[in-house]
Amino acid sequence: MPIPNGFLGEKDLNKTEEKYELSCLICESCGLAQLSNIVNPDLMFKNYVYIPSMSRVMMENFNNLSYQIYNNFNLNQDSLVVDIGSNDGSLLSFFKNYRTRVLGIDPAENLAKIAELKGIPTEIKFFDLKNAKLIRNKHGQADVITATNVVAHIDNLHDFFKGISCLLKDDGVLITEFPYFVELVRGNEFDTIYHEHLSYFSLKPWLKLIKSHGFEVLRTQKSPIHGGSIRIIQKKQKEKSENPNSKNIVNHMAFPEEEHNIYNRDTLSDFARKVGSLKIELTTLLKNLKRKRKKIVGYGAAAKGNVLTNYFNIGPEILDYIVDSTPYKQGLFTPGKHIPIYAENRLTIDRPDYVLILAWNFAEEIIKKEMTFRKLGGKFIIPIPKLKVV
Ligand code: TYD
Repeated sequence: MPIPNGFLGEKDLNKTEEKYELSCLICESCGLAQLSNIVNPDLMFKNYVYIPSMSRVMMENFNNLSYQIYNNFNLNQDSLVVDIGSNDGSLLSFFKNYRTRVLGIDPAENLAKIAELKGIPTEIKFFDLKNAKLIRNKHGQADVITATNVVAHIDNLHDFFKGISCLLKDDGVLITEFPYFVELVRGNEFDTIYHEHLSYFSLKPWLKLIKSHGFEVLRTQKSPIHGGSIRIIQKKQKEKSENPNSKNIVNHMAFPEEEHNIYNRDTLSDFARKVGSLKIELTTLLKNLKRKRKKIVGYGAAAKGNVLTNYFNIGPEILDYIVDSTPYKQGLFTPGKHIPIYAENRLTIDRPDYVLILAWNFAEEIIKKEMTFRKLGGKFIIPIPKLKVV
């Protein structure tokens, strides 16, 4: 599989593309699912093309997160909020509106520049213990650390947590948000498994990890982001023994994992079988439509879409192009399948018959936005969690 965000310019199309093994394994002892192979992070994160501010739903999620944290933890103008994996400063811009001090940390130079233009100071760095020490010396300790959609990308999780312990004040709070492995399996979200995501967390391994670094859970919350995520608010444990309230939360939350047999081999084999069936169903549908000379295009040049098109072998002979709102992606070609990417307004000009929503996690938002396309007789194909034509 090529790197899923490895979009290509026209001049690179004839060059050989690097491909990397993509297999996901689960630890039968702690329950953590991880990739077997790690691609050099510099290749994936130095020039990053994913920006959450392209989605209204993501921005609402950030707005709601900042509101919750600002109010529940009595932040003020002296409080420092640090966002790890700060991207273009989308989340921090909401904290900035509350006038707290903010600092972003992200290795992507292109996105850090955008954040700086919004007035969000950004350290262009990967986050680890070494850099946490440098940042603490320069900016002081943080009252709040946020890490949304970032822990899955971290290779050395223990060093990452040591960095957080070093940068966070003793009475500070850490907010993490990551896609929930239970939802991945239940929702057939196989295409969210790719090289950038090294770990697929459920609560059992997460709690084991944070406990080993002296953190305890204050609150957990589900969110619909990225096909079903989980937000966890945690703090450094003060007493030797765990706070009973935290234990309660944990007992309550661990339940869905056992209920859905997520650690059972049969459940996981069944998941793999379902992916195989989806491949047959979807490619048969698309080929039949092509036989009827229907014009089909894709919506959302998401990394997950690149996994789906490569794994299901869906190329430009089926999807004429993909539309995407991200300016960086427009004019480029998808990795592996080399499907061209255009701006969203191409749909209105071109009026294809079918649109395959590759960014299925935003299906509702996309369908609402493209109401006219549907009114004029266009149809949407949603592949995940279950194949649907609407
Ligand atoms: P996303 O699913 O967020 O991420 P990943 O790359 O991790 O799989 O990607 C969604 C893509 O869809 C992103 O490139 C932006 C695009 N998009 C649109 O083009 N229009 C829209 O209305 C929305 C919500 C997303």
